[in-house]
Amino acid sequence: MSDSSSSNLSTETAAAWAPRRLFVTTALPYANGSFHLGHIMEYIQADIWVRAQRMAGHEVHFVCADDAHGAPIMLKAQAQGQSPEELVASVAAERPQYLEGFAIRFDHWHSTHSPENTELAQGIYLKLREAGLIEVRAIEQFFDPVKEMFLADRYIKGQCPKCGAKDQFGDACEVCGAVYSPTDLIEPYSTLSGAKPVLKSSEHFFFKLSDDRCKQFLKQWMGHGRLQSEVANKAAEWLDDEGKGLADWDISRDAPYFGIPIPDAPGKYFYVWLDAPVGYLASLKSYFDAGKAQAQTAQSFDEFINDPQVEQVHFIGKDIIYFHTLFWPAMLKFSGRKIPDQINVHGFITVSGEKMSKSRGTGISPLRYLELGMDPDWMRYYLAAKLTARVEDIDFNTEDFLARVNSNLVGKYVNIASRAAKIIAENFDSVLLEAPASRIYSPNNAQHAAEVSNLFGDCAPNADKPAFGEIVALMHAREFNQAVVRIMQLADKVNTYWDGHKPWALAKQAATDRAARDQLHWICSLTMYAFKDLTILLHPIAPRLTRDAAQFLGLEAPLGYAQLWDGTTLSRLNPFKPLMTRVDAAMLDQLVPEPAVSAAPSNLGPTPVSVAPSASSPGAVEPLSPTITIDDFAKVDLRIAKIVHAEAVEGSKKLLRLTLDVGEATHRNVFSGIQSAYAPEQLIGRYTVMVANLAARKMKFGLSEGMVLAASGTDDAAGLFLLAPDTGATPGMRVR
Ligand code: 2FM
Ligand code: ZN
Repeated sequence: MSDSSSSNLSTETAAAWAPRRLFVTTALPYANGSFHLGHIMEYIQADIWVRAQRMAGHEVHFVCADDAHGAPIMLKAQAQGQSPEELVASVAAERPQYLEGFAIRFDHWHSTHSPENTELAQGIYLKLREAGLIEVRAIEQFFDPVKEMFLADRYIKGQCPKCGAKDQFGDACEVCGAVYSPTDLIEPYSTLSGAKPVLKSSEHFFFKLSDDRCKQFLKQWMGHGRLQSEVANKAAEWLDDEGKGLADWDISRDAPYFGIPIPDAPGKYFYVWLDAPVGYLASLKSYFDAGKAQAQTAQSFDEFINDPQVEQVHFIGKDIIYFHTLFWPAMLKFSGRKIPDQINVHGFITVSGEKMSKSRGTGISPLRYLELGMDPDWMRYYLAAKLTARVEDIDFNTEDFLARVNSNLVGKYVNIASRAAKIIAENFDSVLLEAPASRIYSPNNAQHAAEVSNLFGDCAPNADKPAFGEIVALMHAREFNQAVVRIMQLADKVNTYWDGHKPWALAKQAATDRAARDQLHWICSLTMYAFKDLTILLHPIAPRLTRDAAQFLGLEAPLGYAQLWDGTTLSRLNPFKPLMTRVDAAMLDQLVPEPAVSAAPSNLGPTPVSVAPSASSPGAVEPLSPTITIDDFAKVDLRIAKIVHAEAVEGSKKLLRLTLDVGEATHRNVFSGIQSAYAPEQLIGRYTVMVANLAARKMKFGLSEGMVLAASGTDDAAGLFLLAPDTGATPGMRVR
């Protein structure tokens, strides 16, 4: 970009262009399960932002890692007869297929169970200790007398001490957001054995967040535009906690624990949340030490991370704000390290209005999306079209997905090239006029100037309202939805321009009419230059699509925002290949899960140990879910149901529609995924068991008012077996 043009950019846009050095992370996913759509959304959000920064010429180092430690991973590995390291390795091995599949380009992926993390976490701890911020106290802690171990917070449940909600975990309330100690819970119980935990004394290490130094620092840190306003407000509330201030933070756990040993304290380990964020630094260090940062900087890890010019930016979900706005900055500050410059918080993703839970992993499977051959750029575009810089939940809705991708991305953007390419190839041997390259500064023909001004008058850097600059600024501000709206408005203008000039009619005259031919050449060229600009603007969002488009245009890679303004020329187009297909509704039907026939974990409790698809076999027995109490079981109202009618569901290969008599005044309508095992006529008149108090679910075929139970293996090949009561049971009888 030339100096003269940059001087005319708005302040906002100019700020986007000042050189930046960025260290960017997403939250480290627990290494005990596959990615779900929530992870993919966060990575796509961060990846789009990182790509936009790179296109503006900034230096970016974008890393992540597996969050490997903690009791859940230790216990899950135990349940699977594996070492925690084996479990973590098997989960880590799955990661690349998702990341590559969705074109998420981290520079490095590491693990918190690593020498770098051990060294850094222990080093940070020792500095905090030197600063007088670590205190050792004997505390009474819950101990499971059946499992003979101290209980991690997540294995104790009870009533929230703040709002009274039942069945809340021992560290935080999912209903009111309160954070507390497990001993504060009312009526606690161990979720591992169901036993009432007993209090036992043990020495614990605390980070003294109650120290006034921490409060003063955090107050100041929060107030510098590092946080979204709603996040800053929440963090300030926590910091004050109604005048009580922050409580000290218990950072140790007793053996047995899968974690990092605390120096000078045999049998004590860091609580996973102490070493997890340190994993951001460990991943960065491993990336630098492996020589992977050298393409962008000659600095060492220590030089880079101590450089005041470097900005540290974290993308996280709204469920982990507390850790990232209180503990993490204080840990960094008082160990003498760089403090975070931006914490970018996003909301949750729901699927057709239903909440997706991190631990339950319900909703759409990203792997299935890829296996169905669905285009990653559809998903990236769709999410971008919905993501804002605010902490808002966004909904994945199949109809909306189909409409936005097909009408906008394909119908407006891709369509420009598909329509113009043929005419340009047939009439001009794919060679374009170069004049539009400099269209913004010196169009040399009055009519052309008017067309340029009409199409792109506000896109030049020196325009009153620099549209391109504003779009770039929106990308930097993470207002992707507004950026997408603007990009599509520009695409609309281009399509209107194309249609208005009827180039297909001009093409008929072009063979005999020189003026018509020249006009056609100009229209085609200007249209393709506009397509080039749209390609650059869409690049962070749809990298594969725009990479192919850039290849067709003969644009030099890597694409940069400077190519919007620097007079880049397009001379000869490469042969056109279709850039993107439309979303097929049948694919979406296959993507969205139909209700499971058996007592699905998503409805009835935490996900049981998940087995990687390749590791399952028809005869394999699924590991048991965590123990529940009799009270948990009593919540499920199982009833005898008579199948009075059964029929196939048009448009579904899995479902049968069952009409059930459950002894009520009216019959129930239930969709059940048992078509592979039963013909409808086999079922009519049979008795089975249903979950009668499951919330009714609206499906595209109608309302499903419960769920019938069947046995199934870990693999489809094991078959499906509908449960049946012994003779004599009648509709409506309760199963206990
Ligand atoms: O909530 C989670 O999934 C955590 N594993 C996030 C950790 S983020 C960072 F601190 F490592
Ligand atoms: Zn609560």
